[in-house]
Amino acid sequence: MTRFMEEAAIESMAEKVGDIMRNAFVFNIDGVGVKGKDGQTIMDAADQAGIYIPRLCDVEGLEPQGSCRVCTVKVNGRPAAACTQPAAEGIEVENETLEIFNWRRDLIRMLFHEGNHLCPICEASGRCELQAMAYRLGIFQPAKYPYLQPVRPIDASHPDIMLDTNRCIRCGRCIRASKDIDGKNVFGYVGRGMHKRVGVNGKNLAQTNVHLDDRAIALETCPVGCIIRKGLGFFTPIGQREFDRAPIGSTIEKAVLKRGKK
Ligand code: SF4
Ligand code: SF4
Ligand code: FES
Repeated sequence: MTRFMEEAAIESMAEKVGDIMRNAFVFNIDGVGVKGKDGQTIMDAADQAGIYIPRLCDVEGLEPQGSCRVCTVKVNGRPAAACTQPAAEGIEVENETLEIFNWRRDLIRMLFHEGNHLCPICEASGRCELQAMAYRLGIFQPAKYPYLQPVRPIDASHPDIMLDTNRCIRCGRCIRASKDIDGKNVFGYVGRGMHKRVGVNGKNLAQTNVHLDDRAIALETCPVGCIIRKGLGFFTPIGQREFDRAPIGSTIEKAVLKRGKK
C-alpha cells in the first residue's frame, strides 16, 4: 500500500468513526445501558445488544407494522411497541417487568382462545412462533377466557400451498411480504372486527398467481401453521425443529454471548 493510499484509508476510517459517533447514543433497557443509532427502533437496538423483546408481527426483512403488541415495552413510563418506536438518547425502557410479562401472556393466551389451535396435529408444531412464545412465557394450560371456536375456511385448492385460517393470528407478515417483496398482493384481510382474517386476491389460492418461491410463502414468513407448503409435511421430525432445540429468542441472546467470547 502506498503512503497516499494509507492516508486515504485512515481518512476514510476517521470519517466513518465520526459518522458513527455523531449518530450513536445510549439509552437504558431495564437499567442496562444499550447503544442505539439514529433510525433504529428500540427492538433493533435491543437485538444488537442481545436483549430479546418478544414479537409476532415483526420479522427480519419486512417493514414493521406494530399490530400484535406482543413487543409492548414501557418508554419513560408509557406503553409503546418496541418494533416501531424509535430508540432515542437517554430513554428509559422497561421490558422484563411483571406487569409487561402479564400483558404479553394475556395477548398470547387470547390468540389461542380466539382461533383454533390444536398443536399436536399441526404441521408447524416445533417451529411455530405462537407455540414457542407460549412456552417462553410459561403458558401451559387454558386460561380464564372462553374458546371462541370460530368456523374458518381451509383453502387446499392450490397444488403446492394450503391456507388454514383457523391458525391465522393476523400478523400481516404474508400480506406485507406479498405486497412489498413479491409485488403481487396475493394476501389481504377480509371481514371486520373479530371476523377479520386473512384472505386471498381471488376465488381461492389456485386462482391467484402465488408461487412457492414467493417470500410470502417462505417458511419464516407465516409465524404459525396457517400457510402450509404441501408435500413438505413433517420434513423435519418433531423434536428436531427450531424451537424444540432452543427457546424462541435464544438466537438473539446467544449471538451477543458468542460475540463477547471472541
Ligand atoms: S399454529 Fe402453532 S399454536 Fe397453532 S396449532 Fe399450530 S403449532 Fe399450535
Ligand atoms: S396467514 Fe400467517 S403470515 Fe399471514 S396473517 Fe395469518 S398468521 Fe400472519
Ligand atoms: S412485534 Fe411489535 S407490535 Fe408486533
